[in-house]
Amino acid sequence: MPEMSETARPRRLHVQTWGCQMNVYDSARMADALAPMGFVPQPAAEGADLVVLNTCHIREKASEKVFAELGRLKRLKEARAAAGGRMLIAVAGCVAQAEGAEILRRAPHVDIVLGPQTTHRLPALVARAERGERALLDTEFPPEDKFDHLPEAAAPQGISAFLTVQEGCDRFCSFCVVPYTRGAEQSRPVAAVLAEARRLVAHGAREVVLLGQNVNAYHGAGPDGREWGLGRLIRALADLPGLKRIRYTTSHPRDMDDDLIAAHREVPALMPYLHLPVQSGSDAVLKAMNRRHTAADYLRLVERLRAARPDLALSSDFIVGHPGETEADFEATLDLVRRVGFASAFSFKFSPRPGTPAAEAERQVDEATKERRLRTLQALLRDQQAAFNASLLGRTVAVLFLEPGRHLGQMVGRSPYLQPVHVQGPTTLAGEIRHVTITAIHPNSLGGRLADAATAEAA
Ligand code: SAH
Ligand code: SF4
Ligand code: F3S
Repeated sequence: MPEMSETARPRRLHVQTWGCQMNVYDSARMADALAPMGFVPQPAAEGADLVVLNTCHIREKASEKVFAELGRLKRLKEARAAAGGRMLIAVAGCVAQAEGAEILRRAPHVDIVLGPQTTHRLPALVARAERGERALLDTEFPPEDKFDHLPEAAAPQGISAFLTVQEGCDRFCSFCVVPYTRGAEQSRPVAAVLAEARRLVAHGAREVVLLGQNVNAYHGAGPDGREWGLGRLIRALADLPGLKRIRYTTSHPRDMDDDLIAAHREVPALMPYLHLPVQSGSDAVLKAMNRRHTAADYLRLVERLRAARPDLALSSDFIVGHPGETEADFEATLDLVRRVGFASAFSFKFSPRPGTPAAEAERQVDEATKERRLRTLQALLRDQQAAFNASLLGRTVAVLFLEPGRHLGQMVGRSPYLQPVHVQGPTTLAGEIRHVTITAIHPNSLGGRLADAATAEAA
């Protein structure tokens, strides 16, 4: 009898997500896949029947967080068992893929370990764990496509929605675990992407963010039997009624083709903001990183993009202290940053990841030097971000409104350049694009007031 009541009541699911937007997307799809089993998401692990940790392996800190969290969950699980209940724990994502059975050894209270390409198998694994099977491990790169096996029904994602179009990476940058954790590059067929975009729009999405570890390498099978690049896919998406904004992330400079650059000129729905990681401004380091482009190549590419879309704002990722990076190499990075002028950026100290070539390389850079270089670079990037934000003061920009803000009567939206913008306005603004005159600049957001449409500078 207790067994029956356990399965009859709605069950509580807690999903915790680290890492990139693709993990955010995968977490949402895992919750969708578990919904038919009666699992309802909740924000806390306390009292959950199933906890899924969707993990990131990109830097040491990211993967350590998982084991810290597993320690906390162990106590929750034991308390639950003492009260006569049961909490299942699943570890998914890139740490699961990289460490596999090692997780079960270090944390025997984990019930399920599954990789990023087997998320669609989670419901079956949960059913087996509920029947009492222990230490279930599924980190295959299966022949079937997870996207074909995830349910079409999905909880609404809101006004701005993620849509994974490409997974995996074949670039093998010296420092990066992604090709090992996510596997070979794979693009979803155009028809599947368009169908999912239509469903998202039907559920209220006005913006889609196309996701891929190397999204501009997209080469999906088109309905015409040809391979479509990302530029062509974006043009087709721009034709969908109701879809007002398109973004994509993350891109590799080498995969930025002519048609995608032209799309920035020709497709108004494609937002003038591009995350284009360069990692370093030194040719020697870029070579050691296996990035296959030079600093000059990157600068030329930026020039071409800005010629296509003069108001394009750029963001990037940087690594300081890659093995072999000298002071002169680091200066070259600062120089590149000064030449480009970034609207925002992420920067990291090199973190040696097991199994990657850079982890084994000679001439590792010491911690104090990494720390100092990171601080110097971040100060420069912060100044550039502040200058970019300040340049919007007094200007009128098109804002897509997403949700109420923290203060009464406040609504939050996003500028074309992805900055959060706060205004006083009614909740009916949600989903609308309105012109806003920027009146205040904060470090991570802008304030403004709704403007007369006639003063708008861009739709
Ligand atoms: N696919 C994306 C980004 C992948 S990870 C791309 O190609 O740009 C996101 C960022 O994490 C990377 O751009 C890089 O700057 C950083 N990163 C990846 N591996 C790292 C490592 N071992 N140490 C420090 N930073 C790393
Ligand atoms: Fe990693 Fe990006 Fe390089 Fe691929 S292109 S190996 S995801 S940093
Ligand atoms: Fe992290 Fe995996 Fe994304 S390592 S950054 S979650 S692809």
